[in-house]
Amino acid sequence: MFQVVAHAFGSPEDALMYAPAPRPAPGQGDVLVRMRASTINPSDLIPVTGAYRHRTPLPFVPGYDGVGVVDETGPGVDPALRGRRVLPLGSAGNWATWKVLPAASCVDVPDDITDEQAALAYINPLTARLMVQALSPVPGDRIGITAAASGIGRMLIRLLDAAGASPIAIVRSTQARLSLRGEPAEVIEEGAPLPPLAAGLDAVGGLAGARLSAAIRPGGLLLHYGLLSGQPLPPALPGHARASVKLFRLRDWVQAASPADLRAAMSETFADIRSGLCASRVEADYPLAAFRDALRHNARPDRDGKILLRP
Ligand SMILES: NC(=O)c1ccc[n+]([C@@H]2O[C@H](COP(=O)([O-])OP(=O)(O)OC[C@H]3O[C@@H](n4cnc5c(N)ncnc54)[C@H](OP(=O)(O)O)[C@@H]3O)[C@@H](O)[C@H]2O)c1
Repeated sequence: MFQVVAHAFGSPEDALMYAPAPRPAPGQGDVLVRMRASTINPSDLIPVTGAYRHRTPLPFVPGYDGVGVVDETGPGVDPALRGRRVLPLGSAGNWATWKVLPAASCVDVPDDITDEQAALAYINPLTARLMVQALSPVPGDRIGITAAASGIGRMLIRLLDAAGASPIAIVRSTQARLSLRGEPAEVIEEGAPLPPLAAGLDAVGGLAGARLSAAIRPGGLLLHYGLLSGQPLPPALPGHARASVKLFRLRDWVQAASPADLRAAMSETFADIRSGLCASRVEADYPLAAFRDALRHNARPDRDGKILLRP
């Protein structure tokens, strides 16, 4: 089998290698999943840079999102699982031909969900759904979203709109503003004045996160879930009290969830994908062996959708 593996920390293009590896065998309670498609999310690339080196043992295979088919079952696992199309959740390692993981960490994919959407069904759709639940907006609430043209930003816009709230989409370029035409949001370029907000969802940090926080009414909540600027949220903008800030990390929710909770949440997420609320745009498809081309495409400023990797 082949895998994309990080043997050292560094820029993903330099640090990652496409390399052969022995086909793994499923142990007690495990399944062997043959991967069909995966994608590139910011959460796959950040550990490669060494940002979390204290909790990232080398070597490792990135890839948290993806879909595959159960090829083999280990001792103690029902052999009837063979041939099932699943999301192999809860660990990285999807940028590979095969992945071994506990059978309990696999979630069945409904037949009407394409491989393309299934490969993108976990990280962004589930996070978006859980964060909107955590905000529990009431109709008419204005809710600001930074990096709103990102994959997850578009899902947040649609989920909030479906909940009756008024999404305020904050973007950093005219191109991003234009790409949101047709989405149910008021679109504002970063730095322009924001209306008073009931709550906010921030994936940028730094000044953009601070501006969003300053626009939230007293007692309102800012869910901070990403650091695209590389800068932490500053304590507050001068003259502004900061909204109550909560950090959201999908992995914290998943670690606390039972397998039944995860299955129930994914079943709702599949429904959101079917309805279009959490469907993802896919811009390009690359064989895993061409992962460097895929990384370069992923970094292009004109990219307007996700990149698929096919082992
Ligand atoms: N906490 C969690 O559990 C969790 C779960 C899912 C996602 N996330 C986070 O959500 C964020 C978006 O993920 P995604 O998969 O949706 O990304 P994506 O589809 O790859 O899009 C990222 C977009 O962010 C925008 N961006 C990049 N740097 C920016 C900056 N400094 N200021 C403003 N916008 C910037 C870019 O848009 P333009 O070039 O068009 O401006 C880029 O297209 C990431 O930070 C990710 O880690 C967190």
